[in-house]
Amino acid sequence: MARNSKSELPPPDFVVVANRLPVDLEKLPDGGRRWKRSPGGLVTALEPMLRARDGAWIGWPGVPDADVGPLVEDGLQLHPVGLSAEEVESYYEGFSNGTLWPLYHDVVAPPVFHRHWWQAYVKVNQRFADYTAKVAAENATVWIQDYQLQLMPGMLRDLRPDLRIGFFLHIPFPPTELFMQLPWRTRIVEGLLGADVIGFHTAGGVRNFRWLATRLAGAGAVRNRNEVTVGRRTVKLGAFPISIDSAQLDQLSRTDAVVKRAAQIRDDLGNPEKIVLGVDRLDYTKGIDVRLRAFHELLEEGRITAENAVMIQLATPSRERVEHYQRMRDDIELSVGRINGEFAKVGHPAVHYLHQSLPREELAAFFLAADVMLVTPLRDGMNLVAKEYVACRHDLGGTLVLSEFAGAAAELTSALLVNPHDTDGVKEALYAALTMPPEEGRKRMRTLRKQVMTHDVDRWARSFLDALGLEPADG
Ligand code: ADP
Ligand code: G6P
Repeated sequence: MARNSKSELPPPDFVVVANRLPVDLEKLPDGGRRWKRSPGGLVTALEPMLRARDGAWIGWPGVPDADVGPLVEDGLQLHPVGLSAEEVESYYEGFSNGTLWPLYHDVVAPPVFHRHWWQAYVKVNQRFADYTAKVAAENATVWIQDYQLQLMPGMLRDLRPDLRIGFFLHIPFPPTELFMQLPWRTRIVEGLLGADVIGFHTAGGVRNFRWLATRLAGAGAVRNRNEVTVGRRTVKLGAFPISIDSAQLDQLSRTDAVVKRAAQIRDDLGNPEKIVLGVDRLDYTKGIDVRLRAFHELLEEGRITAENAVMIQLATPSRERVEHYQRMRDDIELSVGRINGEFAKVGHPAVHYLHQSLPREELAAFFLAADVMLVTPLRDGMNLVAKEYVACRHDLGGTLVLSEFAGAAAELTSALLVNPHDTDGVKEALYAALTMPPEEGRKRMRTLRKQVMTHDVDRWARSFLDALGLEPADG
């Protein structure tokens, strides 16, 4: 990876701004440093898209007080924006993940409102705007991502009216009654309205935002439901369901190495009849407890045994200093311990739990090995894991159990859809998946694959950038 000073890099015409860079700086015990892939769906989706467009990415390198200059990696300009330890606590862990994240996810955990967190959010958004205003080429397109940077479109427009500015929200936009709880609701709506195009995953998000924009920020409603006016400007609103690089994952899962590794995983598990899989960032919105409960009850009722059905839960560490996350991790690890205490045999756990981030190839092998994929969030903007599972099943094997409250449920209607608040319903869906006749499973998977393989991340990016008036990339 080559290092460059800011002035050496050509001003980019296309810039993505996100709270995080696609890579995290890791400080090693010997004082050295290295870059590793950042967690989460935003990076999974955007990285291939930006590489195809030779763009620049502005974001935080993932550790406090990192003093790193811009660098180029495989043709992609990376521009680190620093955060102090205090800002990580108040802007990132505080306002972004202690206030906005739970509020926007149906308050599945109670959001906390602190004025000093808000002040840090304003300050850091301004820093991102100042930095971007300095780096972006004349008339460049800047695409701002997600809930951590909702004030930035307005701030950037004030500094650089020549820029074309897009904003995409990767998490659900909440119902208006919940959004109205936010003491700084008007500032957030006004900040977003600085963009030329604001994208959400669903039409519901568009509707909620449009109502708030007219009520709180005096935006004018025009006849076209997907636009509002702000002074002389028109702001487009749209639903753009995000996706994955489906072809790339399909190819990866067909490689000899991945196919062999999938067989090896089954062998390592003692060749159970069925493998049940969960793959998530360790987040309280993901409903990991819901699926553990369903699996536990099926074992208790004797409808499955630990010999014929094994569960694997892979969980990427996430936001580990935030209290809700610490509590949830303890609860999940307690449940795993309890299930294994009751049902495991020496050398054969009923639930395998890995609190680790795995390489893509390894993940693809787990997807290919899993007979049942459990995706049970209480609320999720999209959920890319569900689409990744489908992209890996070129063999048409496997059954997807999917929460109705994931954005992906609108597209993946041939999955077994469940209400994650209904434990009996999840349990019955898991049992139905475990006992599904192969022909029905193949039929469902064929339909799911038709959707996922044709609606990939490139199509998502093209439709958003088309709304923003940008020419399509060659790549
Ligand atoms: P979120 O963006 O909320 O984390 P998504 O399901 O949309 O949820 O995206 C999660 C991304 O993180 C997916 O690309 C998934 O493959 C990846 N991921 C989740 N768990 C792991 C893990 N244990 N190891 C490696 N990658 C993971
Ligand atoms: C979700 C959010 C992203 C975030 C990712 C990982 O996908 O929408 O904005 O980057 O989770 O979370 P983290 O807090 O580690 O960046």
